[in-house]
Amino acid sequence: MTAALTINIAYIVASVLFILGLKMMSRPDSARQGNFLSALGMALAIAATLLTKGLEFEWVVIGGVIGTLIGAFFATRVQMTQMPEMVALLNGFGGLASLLVGWSAYHYTPQAGILTTSATFLSVLIGGVTFSGSLVAWAKLHGNLPSRPLVFQGQQLLNGFLLVLIMGIALFFLRSPATFSPLFVALVILSLLLGITSVLPIGGADMPVVISLLNSYSGLAACAAGFVILNNILIVAGALVGASGIILTQIMCKAMNRSLRNVLFSGFGSVVKKTRADKKGEVRPLSPEDAYLVLEAARSVVITPGYGLAVAQAQHVVRELGELLEKNGAEVRYAIHPVAGRMPGHMNVLLAEANVPYDQLVEMDAVNPAMDAVDVCIVIGANDTVNPAALHDKTSPIYGMPIIETFRARTVFVIKRSMATGFAGIENDLFTQENTRMIFGDAKDVVQKILSEFKSK
Ligand code: TAP
Repeated sequence: MTAALTINIAYIVASVLFILGLKMMSRPDSARQGNFLSALGMALAIAATLLTKGLEFEWVVIGGVIGTLIGAFFATRVQMTQMPEMVALLNGFGGLASLLVGWSAYHYTPQAGILTTSATFLSVLIGGVTFSGSLVAWAKLHGNLPSRPLVFQGQQLLNGFLLVLIMGIALFFLRSPATFSPLFVALVILSLLLGITSVLPIGGADMPVVISLLNSYSGLAACAAGFVILNNILIVAGALVGASGIILTQIMCKAMNRSLRNVLFSGFGSVVKKTRADKKGEVRPLSPEDAYLVLEAARSVVITPGYGLAVAQAQHVVRELGELLEKNGAEVRYAIHPVAGRMPGHMNVLLAEANVPYDQLVEMDAVNPAMDAVDVCIVIGANDTVNPAALHDKTSPIYGMPIIETFRARTVFVIKRSMATGFAGIENDLFTQENTRMIFGDAKDVVQKILSEFKSK
């Protein structure tokens, strides 16, 4: 068998492993094996690529060692709440790699045919936008840049102007690529600028959607780079990342009942926060000790986690509480909203980390019809995803967003530190409902206090 045939067979097997891995990652109980299969596919793809003739191995080893060390260093240190930042950086460097592949291909073969020339142009353009856009997203999440939408007059005009310039360069490039050299650097600079000016006006809290979109871009850039160097696995893997990124972006937008256009251009994070002064309704606080007495008698409990659970790192104590409630004879379920937290699958990952059994995780559509029969719903650090305004207040920015209908449970406990708003910056009438009791405090502290009550009896 020739080396080329061996490589292509290995690439086909790797592609199948990627697709199987992606499929398995869509379910919590098979996600780990899915991740493993995908990693195996990638290892196979790398090994096969190393069989390519004419490689300069010293560069491959230097790049591999540096990349592995940096990746392992950050992956082992990143906190769960910082995962979107980490993904932003990974996307960004994927984009940069595609840009550099395109650049070096152009440097060595400026006289390439129309397909390679177009692919080179696209890998540099999309790679550049992805790299700089992802760095801005990272800086907003990390606090190096203000997370509010940074808007100025004529911003859209500037983006339009940059696009027109890039299109002009594209025409020139496709007509006479060899004489294009002086403008190539301009293309790189304009792509980087476009990435920055496109992400700056988006609020920090919308970054997960933007990161998912940039993830899709990084896949498209890699796919274009695959066409540049005629590497089948890069084309397949890039296309898979591009497609799955855009599907995820769509899912997130749908779950927030917002269009992608609204996320990208509305400056949603700058929503003016209302104060409680204009709201009526009595707040009924409850101590963890009294909460225990109610929970002790409950036969059906639904735990609804949100972003505050991640902030408090309360997943382990919550799992312990779930176990004690079960031992006490209650049926315990965890109701998961698709955009609870700040990244896709945020709650699933946290609860899986704490070994909450997968079969206790229930999706919104499955739990809502049964909510009237629930004795106690414990809302832990969730706010927008349980806000009834989404169902009945047409003036609310989250109107139309599906929610976990906790307000229909017989009793609702809300564990949070104050009456502060959540991500959308809006009041929540659930907190003043007659059947709601507010248990103020850090989620981990409060749950720990309830646990102590259980254990002391
Ligand atoms: P949020 O509406 O953001 O509310 C979180 C609540 O947690 C806050 O009101 C906060 O109140 C409380 N909290 C913070 N730290 C806490 C702590 N240590 N202990 C206890 N409570 C704490 O959360 P959610 O219901 O999960 O909704 C998520 C929001 O993010 C949605 O609006 C969604 O559209 C948006 N979003 C999500 C995603 C994805 S993919 N998940 C992406 C983009 C946007 P206190 O300050 O009073 O404690």
